[in-house]
Amino acid sequence: MNVKRAVPVAKLSEAEAAAELTRLAKEIASHDKRYHADDAPTISDADYDALKKRNAAIEASFPQLIRSDSPSRRVGFAPVEKFAKVTHGVPMLSLDNSFDDEDVSDFVDRVRRFLGLKAGDELILTAEPKIDGLSASLRYEKGKFVLGATRGDGEVGEDITANLRTLKEVPATLRGRQIPDVIEVRGEVYLTHAAFAQINAAQAEAGDKIFANPRNAAAGSLRQLDSSVTAKRPLHFFAYTWGEASSVPGKTQWEVIAAFKDWGFVTNPLMKRCSSLEQMLAFYNDIASRRAKLGYDIDGVVYKVDRLDWQQRLGFVSRAPRWAIAHKFAAEQAETELLDIDIQVGRTGVLAPVARLRPVTVGGVVVSNATLHNEDEIARKDVRIGDTVVIQRAGDVIPQIVRVIEPKRPKNSKPYKFPQKCPVCGSHAERELNENTGKLDAARRCTGGLICAAQAAERIKHFVSRSAFDIEGFGSKHVDEFLADKLIAHPSDIFALEERFGSGPKAIAAREGWGPQSAAKLFAAINARRTIALHRLIYGLGIRHVGESTARLLARNYGSVKAFVKAMVAASDPDSKAFAELDAIDGIGEVVAREIAEFFAEKHNREEVERVLDQIEVQDAEKPKTNSPVAGKTVVFTGSLEKMTRNEAKARAESLGAHVAGSVSAKTDLVVAGPGAGSKLKDAQKLDVKVISEDEWLKLIGGS
Ligand code: IVH
Repeated sequence: MNVKRAVPVAKLSEAEAAAELTRLAKEIASHDKRYHADDAPTISDADYDALKKRNAAIEASFPQLIRSDSPSRRVGFAPVEKFAKVTHGVPMLSLDNSFDDEDVSDFVDRVRRFLGLKAGDELILTAEPKIDGLSASLRYEKGKFVLGATRGDGEVGEDITANLRTLKEVPATLRGRQIPDVIEVRGEVYLTHAAFAQINAAQAEAGDKIFANPRNAAAGSLRQLDSSVTAKRPLHFFAYTWGEASSVPGKTQWEVIAAFKDWGFVTNPLMKRCSSLEQMLAFYNDIASRRAKLGYDIDGVVYKVDRLDWQQRLGFVSRAPRWAIAHKFAAEQAETELLDIDIQVGRTGVLAPVARLRPVTVGGVVVSNATLHNEDEIARKDVRIGDTVVIQRAGDVIPQIVRVIEPKRPKNSKPYKFPQKCPVCGSHAERELNENTGKLDAARRCTGGLICAAQAAERIKHFVSRSAFDIEGFGSKHVDEFLADKLIAHPSDIFALEERFGSGPKAIAAREGWGPQSAAKLFAAINARRTIALHRLIYGLGIRHVGESTARLLARNYGSVKAFVKAMVAASDPDSKAFAELDAIDGIGEVVAREIAEFFAEKHNREEVERVLDQIEVQDAEKPKTNSPVAGKTVVFTGSLEKMTRNEAKARAESLGAHVAGSVSAKTDLVVAGPGAGSKLKDAQKLDVKVISEDEWLKLIGGS
């Protein structure tokens, strides 16, 4: 949603406001997840803030509509399950934001009013950079570091003690005087720009994920299950506040920070005290002008009332202190010309428009490309080739096109026409219907899955993966190399590898890193899969939305590969009986049915399936048992299983006629919980669903 073009809040009807709050809650939650849990945000901070502001504005006008899951009631994102949880004795809260001088002036007025200060009474505030990292809480008991946690949702964070111990700037023991029995020192973990660049270079080298910005890289480094990985990342820590404390070493913010420094922490050397609005704003401008040269990301400054007794009196409003405020930097913008729009096809077939720009410097960085997101975005902004556009960099996220400067538009320019065919393979590119919203999906996708070169690597890796053809020793590095050297282009080529490259000038055995033995081993692994279960073949095709359980469902329904392919080819006509039958299978929704039909409607795909089938033998599917003790039951597995893998457990349950679900609901009959079971176990207890252990489960199905 674009907030700037949205209907003014005053003009919203109650129903519209409710619908928008629902949408915003969902959208913000998904961005929260991408940011906090996945460490991979997809929008700029400024756009995110705009969504939150819009949500707050609607809630202010329609307080009766505030949702229980409103983004305004949450801080960050609930912790992911891999670390133990830590409940913060004193919550780790957030800061209110101000975006301009007036907001800051209002803040100072509010504070003065609240405290009942008279015109001549002095109010001192500290001012310091707002570090764009992630906050951590370090608990010291008798001067020893005993527990380190992330913020999580503010109430409950993750125990990352072992990882935090690896930071040079997290002292194991506090030195100096006045050390309380208990104190939680809080601050920001961050990476320098130089370290960030190094980490990404190493990640790229290893073929691992590239981090979008230093904050995400810091988060990724800190959330390692193996702390020796964290130890290799040069993470820093600035101490700037505290949580639980048996005593506090000072009467002002300034004194406490000085004590932190004495104890061995690093505190921000740029911190200052201000006694007027003018000084605060001067500090802000000074920091803004030095931002690019600091060597680490900051996204604003923070002002805090210096006197702690006053902080106490001011207290908190919902999730933020009344005694502090963040003053954010505006996203950096510049004007340039849009030279062209390139369509890139991603590894999953999404057609992504990329703006090619006349190079321009934004915030100290030369920018020549920007994302245009998708075709709706281009149409909505009416972006045309030749236009002069405003671009924006927010943090280190990919630059975006904010708007077109229409008066500068060339006379005979035409609206941009988004291609309907994949520029890589020529297959149709389709937009999927979203069942929930009834709207077309934003992304247009190439339907030439099996034959499109842009998707080849992904598809072939999927084809040989564990749950599909499971070709041992054929890892993703090999797929990339064989593709690059044109030994393979499609999945079917895998089965011809031995025939074509078993010997001769391009023999695999003669390749670097290979020998006769390893080549023979690979061919044996491929040959071992020339006979395969039907559901593995179906899953291996990599049709969108057809995961393992859908593949099993299809296999069980159609029984043989012959029947399956025949029915699917017929179903590629959406008015056919075959399509209606596919759609009617319990567990296959319309979206999935359409994807399958579209896949088989593409001639390229049908031909490739035939080529694969020419070389393999597909076993018929087993009919599900109806007489097992779990037939027809809905089962959820949670926690770690010790005697079988998740996939095995699922396959076994399904072959016994059970339905395996991913989350617990009122429809669940049975939850099988192993050690470390978390929220699903809680849900089961809440809903009074029967919970059994892995052993009990094995006993239950034992005879079947
Ligand atoms: S003070 C109760 N000072 O900004 C107030 N926070 O948007 C505690 N942050 O959760 C926060 N630099 O992660 C404070 N110098 C600074 C900061 C800072 C970055 C982060 C912190 C906080 C978030 C709020």
